[in-house]
Amino acid sequence: MIIAIDGPAAAGKGTLARRIAAALGLPYLDTGLLYRAVGRLVLEAGGDPADPVAATAAARALRAEDFARGDLRDAAASKAASQVASIPEVRAALLAFQRRFGNENGAVLDGRDIGTIIFPEAEIKLFVTASLAARAGRRHAELRAKGDEVTLEAVRADLAARDEADARRAAAPLVAAADAILFDTTEMDADAAFSRALALIKARAG
Ligand code: CDP
Repeated sequence: MIIAIDGPAAAGKGTLARRIAAALGLPYLDTGLLYRAVGRLVLEAGGDPADPVAATAAARALRAEDFARGDLRDAAASKAASQVASIPEVRAALLAFQRRFGNENGAVLDGRDIGTIIFPEAEIKLFVTASLAARAGRRHAELRAKGDEVTLEAVRADLAARDEADARRAAAPLVAAADAILFDTTEMDADAAFSRALALIKARAG
């Protein structure tokens, strides 16, 4: 079984996807980490994440240890991820890995284009959203808990800018698949989102 979880930045996709995967005994892939790692590798080499040549070379050279590193969640990595993610050759280089991962034993994958491009045939598609204010508040708390001194306003601006770039790009834009279940978590905490989503999945999967 493939469960595709897409949606805008910091909508709670990762927490939800991880818990659903654990509950159903499926492997989990956070596909945002792939783009974050590519962006980070380009920055580290002194390159420009918007440069298709540098970004595509980094995507083709990506190794498993690159997306296990600890510096993929900060503001610089987020911005670089969004920049490399708009380059079609980068997305093409990461596509086979994502399909192979899911096809091995089934999986829960979260990202922006899982239900539209990576697994359009996924049995279950959730499009997870929440208001910008709710998402900014959650991401701000998460980064603060890790010792990041970022302000709420900076987090909100980053999310809004990435959402806009992700939705407007030509290559695999952020959009709900026609057959996705829309799931708004603005008024839900993580436990409520998990139990509601699991019930929806069980109902849809019979
Ligand atoms: O955790 P958050 O929702 O902030 O971001 P993420 O899922 O880690 O994704 C970081 C960036 O990677 C996004 O802003 C997108 O530009 C890009 N991305 C993408 O284009 N396609 C995916 N399947 C996953 C992420």
